[in-house]
Amino acid sequence: MTTAFFRGRGPVSTNDLLQRLLQGPLRNLEPIEQELFRLRFELCLNDALRPLGKLYGERKDYESVVARFAEIVAHAYARRPADLRLLDLRREAQPDWFQHSTMIGYVCYADRFAGSLDGVAEKIPYLRELGVTYLHLMPLLKPRPGANDGGYAVMSYRQVNPDLGTMDDLAALAAHLRDEGISLCIDLVCNHTAKEHRWAQRAMDGDAAYQDYYLMFADRTLPDRYEQALPEVFPDFKPGNFTYYEEIERWVWTTFHEYQWDLNYANPAVFAEMLDIILFLANQGVEVLRMDAVAFMWKRMGTDCQNQPEAHYLLQAFRALSRIAAPALLLKAEAIVAPERLIHYLGRGLAANKECELAYHNQLMVLMWSALAERRAVLMTHALQQMPETPSGCAWVTYARCHDDIGWAISDEDAAGVGLSGAMHRAFLSDFYSGRFPGSFARGATFQFNPRTGDRRINGSMASLAGLEVAQESQDGQQIEFAVRRILLLHNLLFAFGGIPLIYMGDELGLPNDYSYLNDANLAGDNRWIHRPRMDWNRAADRRANRQDGQSVAAQIFQAILSLVAARKATPALHAQAGSHAIWTGNDHVFGLLRDSPRGRVLVLANVSEEVRAVSGQRLQELGFDSYLVDLISGKLVESWPELALEPYEAFWLGRQSRTNEGRLAFFD
Ligand code: GLC
Repeated sequence: MTTAFFRGRGPVSTNDLLQRLLQGPLRNLEPIEQELFRLRFELCLNDALRPLGKLYGERKDYESVVARFAEIVAHAYARRPADLRLLDLRREAQPDWFQHSTMIGYVCYADRFAGSLDGVAEKIPYLRELGVTYLHLMPLLKPRPGANDGGYAVMSYRQVNPDLGTMDDLAALAAHLRDEGISLCIDLVCNHTAKEHRWAQRAMDGDAAYQDYYLMFADRTLPDRYEQALPEVFPDFKPGNFTYYEEIERWVWTTFHEYQWDLNYANPAVFAEMLDIILFLANQGVEVLRMDAVAFMWKRMGTDCQNQPEAHYLLQAFRALSRIAAPALLLKAEAIVAPERLIHYLGRGLAANKECELAYHNQLMVLMWSALAERRAVLMTHALQQMPETPSGCAWVTYARCHDDIGWAISDEDAAGVGLSGAMHRAFLSDFYSGRFPGSFARGATFQFNPRTGDRRINGSMASLAGLEVAQESQDGQQIEFAVRRILLLHNLLFAFGGIPLIYMGDELGLPNDYSYLNDANLAGDNRWIHRPRMDWNRAADRRANRQDGQSVAAQIFQAILSLVAARKATPALHAQAGSHAIWTGNDHVFGLLRDSPRGRVLVLANVSEEVRAVSGQRLQELGFDSYLVDLISGKLVESWPELALEPYEAFWLGRQSRTNEGRLAFFD
């Protein structure tokens, strides 16, 4: 291959570059390993050069910049442990491994779940019991001391938080998990570092090279101009997007907290550092990197400095280059952005399937809560119908709660499409989930009220937002039952939608809000900690209690989730590649979703209200569900003529069955 990537300065071909690597960092590898490198290099380099050219192609030193990145890749490949090389081959042989319906995700803080990384290893049997195949451990790299935004202010990317263990412990845990069929995901905070990070410290010492790692300004001229179009992410924590440091007489770009300094990716040295870190973590056995706050990675004057094309180029380049050294690694975009922006993180156009393999489906999360508050599925159906298809090699990460607040990402257009005012509806949802709305079942807390925009986000555990806390307090059996059903309905939908469903630690046991954060000075100012509880292992001990034995609410939820897990794993038609289409059911209170592919067709129906609701048999016929219908969760036949009735908050995954000549029920289609 002789493609030239240079821009008119000296005829260095990619082939020359490859030869240099083979004679340099790769020289001690076995010939077969060198061949594999060559193959991947040839397959992926153009995918890297396309975005890199857009990012850095105008620089005079572009050639050496690319050569530097290639060297980092080659060094990481040379260091990749043998078991991970085998994993690379395995993943390449089965590239859809993460799209299977057998995937079940679990998210927790290592310390809050099990004390430490070693503690997590001891809890693997619990995860296995739940059917977990993907474990996201919340930020665990060495954070700054004191307040650290839940670990999102990283001081060293090559060290583990000493309270949790060491980097060797992390590698051992990753290997152990893998042996048990669980892929490890960790956070990579790539938009910013802690101001205590070595690079920031050097910058503070006045080192110009490191000052160029960040976005620094000698006076307010540019910050003021930027601010005109910039929103505030945490207006309560830190108004504005810049912080002044007298030591260096500079304004530093700080989107989040004062102690989180945004990185300057226009400087290729920053890209090189982060690439090296990505591959270092991949070589510890991390299989998925949650790329934090990626929407913010590139700034452009006059814009909100989110979702810029260059932020996508950066991700595409990271992915293409990591495919050469560590093809088993997946990237997951944490981009909590407007619906029309979100899909781009899975790659569009030439970059389809070439950006992040995974992205959080923020809209689904928001729309599920919206439907539960309204007891209507109209907005959810309409808004989901507006979302484009996902590229075939990608998957959503579906979730109903995470460690962050819920921001009501419902666009004015989507709301108007069903006759609602966007602003009024978002205000209603905040009122509802903070418990202020008359008759609300929820107990949540308001987060970051911004009087300028009216934006009001919500915190609260899944159980408390779904009504369990209030219902249990008033010992109202009927309301407890409804709350449990809401929790199960949310899990049902995120298991059926397509992609990797995430169970957020404690939701499987209905853990309520945790107010103990108020006693910790480092946490008290941030009420997101209300829904980041410690694992309640006493409750977990109840999980096997028998249904008939008046078992606890926790056991009821746990067992019902186990049934959903089993049903999902037994339903290949829920593979992430299958289309996922919201459909009108003819009943405003029943959400419908059609999963359709050569693997089979599944019609998901979900009653989002506390009344019995029905879908007409005729509508089911129109959708092609006209013969014997079976609920794939319970395995039972479902009566569908003249109508199919759903109990309060009931949901079905319907498949068709036909009868054999002998009259037995046979295959699904
Ligand atoms: C992401 C994290 C959030 C954090 C922010 C800044 O949005 O999920 O918890 O505060 O990034 O790192």
